Amino acid sequence: MNQTLSSQVIAWQRIAGRHSLPWQNTRDPYKIWLSEVMLQQTQVATVIGYYKKFLEQFPTVTALANAPIDSVLALWAGLGYYSRARNLHRCAQLICSEHGAVFPNDQNALVALPGIGRSTAAAILAFSYGAATPILDANVKRVFCRYFGVTGFPGEPKVHNHLWKIAEQQMPKNDVEAYTQGLMDLGATLCKGRSPSCAICPLSATCIANLRGLQTELPERKPKKLVPVKEHWFLYIHQSNNVILQRQPEVGIWGGLYSLPRIEAPETTSSLVSMVPKLEQHWHIKVLTISEGPAFAHAFTHYKLNARVIHVQATKSTQRVTDASLGSFYSPAEIASLGLPSPIQKYLAKNLLLF
Ligand code: ADE
Repeated sequence: MNQTLSSQVIAWQRIAGRHSLPWQNTRDPYKIWLSEVMLQQTQVATVIGYYKKFLEQFPTVTALANAPIDSVLALWAGLGYYSRARNLHRCAQLICSEHGAVFPNDQNALVALPGIGRSTAAAILAFSYGAATPILDANVKRVFCRYFGVTGFPGEPKVHNHLWKIAEQQMPKNDVEAYTQGLMDLGATLCKGRSPSCAICPLSATCIANLRGLQTELPERKPKKLVPVKEHWFLYIHQSNNVILQRQPEVGIWGGLYSLPRIEAPETTSSLVSMVPKLEQHWHIKVLTISEGPAFAHAFTHYKLNARVIHVQATKSTQRVTDASLGSFYSPAEIASLGLPSPIQKYLAKNLLLF
């Protein structure tokens, strides 16, 4: 199996891989480093234009090191993840000040530089110097997870370390560039996240995911955090389009915002009428109808809110309650100028045609 993966990847890369990307057919570590950093979180098609412009303006590591950071950032604008541009610039300066403007041919020295992780360092060494150092970027992780049937989320340290072990074991001594580029190409063009092209993949006959039909299961996705579910009850008390809102205490999740009043869960939902005397007394209203309205849900980071809402049609109180923390009626125009929690605002907009 050991030889199978690398030799098949190498053979496939030669006939079906990519050979004319702008950063190929060079051994200049500066050009390779630049491409690898740009490709860290960005697709090839997006990178190509930026890469060419960047090289025109900064043809050497010295030119880049001497440039003002603002001109580097200006050329990076649109590529995203701007810490990459800052690290790139700092790295160029360190290459000039510490390494005589020559990229080190050594993984530890490369990894010590800003913006260069283990996989980026390996790619630079493989493409610049033909060094047999394994890579493990997101595409390659996907290929390995599927081919070797690796379960568990690759972001987990245990799974991540296991994938690096696989990368080390599979690394051939020869044809390093074709193998490294081949893994990248296979991951990007055939072994895609969605609908991989197994029918034309050189690895399909021995790929565990293909043999067992696990392509969509592997790599495993990040486990969803189990969050508690809370059920809260709200009152939507309205008189025509005027709605009772309560200013929330400063502390708490909706601190200072105006929300529908929250109440304890009713003892029984079948006879909401028993709530009427309390409501009438509290808000100086006369209740005309009371019923449960549509519910809504909202995902907070730490819990999921399942909200249930009691709709109360009322006559407006004669005395305006001045204490906003008790709650009082607000007209649509007034509501528009208040800060409402977004699920409450959406609820009003959706169910009540207020806005
Ligand atoms: N992604 C990361 N490095 C790459 C490379 N050299 N070619 C294509 N895609 C890549």
